[in-house]
Amino acid sequence: MEYTLKNGKTLTVRQLIPDDAQEMLDLLKTADTETRFLARNPGELTLTVEKERSFIENGLQDTNSAKFAAFYEGKLVGHCSIGLVRSRQRFRHRSEVAFLLYKDFWGLGIGSCMMEECIRWAQEHGVLQIELDVVAQNERAMALYRKYGFEICGTLPRALRYPDGTFADEYRMIKIL
Ligand SMILES: CC(C)(COP(=O)(O)OP(=O)(O)OC[C@H]1O[C@@H](n2cnc3c(N)ncnc32)[C@H](O)[C@@H]1OP(=O)(O)O)[C@@H](O)C(=O)NCCC(=O)NCCS
Repeated sequence: MEYTLKNGKTLTVRQLIPDDAQEMLDLLKTADTETRFLARNPGELTLTVEKERSFIENGLQDTNSAKFAAFYEGKLVGHCSIGLVRSRQRFRHRSEVAFLLYKDFWGLGIGSCMMEECIRWAQEHGVLQIELDVVAQNERAMALYRKYGFEICGTLPRALRYPDGTFADEYRMIKIL
């Protein structure tokens, strides 16, 4: 799907394919150094391109989830994913999302485009709610989620522990479709 960003440029969002493996790894590794709000410490991701490639290949076979890549002037600058929290019938109304972008591309509306892609997937797959976890200090991400109608439904104290020994709480947020 194509979107027009706040700066007038075009963003293309499509499913991730195995040939994106190298660019995806570059994004994941860089993003870990650019924000404290993701799940890994910088340098913790040691996946090879081959492993990432087969991870993407397996993902394409999985009808319970989708992985998207966002392209700006031909460069992979963002990634989002959505999937059922569990595949059993009693949980099939629930999905979870995750988002990340290179820091240089924050604030252009790319997160919003990726959110729209995930909401479309959820609607097409009969999902009734979207959930996510967000670090309590992540104001930018929470602004994006609130804009799309997500509300905080709980807090997990000390969800993350950083190398300096400090902790961060996480909010669970939910959007009912
Ligand atoms: C979180 C993230 C995906 C947001 O993407 P983005 O492209 O910067 O978001 P958008 O530009 O679509 O902004 C969404 C809304 O938040 C608002 N916003 C942006 N930064 C904000 C800030 N610091 N405080 C308050 N509101 C802010 C924007 O104005 C926009 O609303 P608008 O369209 O009505 O103007 C991106 O910043 C990112 O990858 N961060 C690092 C990884 C991360 O934190 N991922 C989420 C983990 S839960």
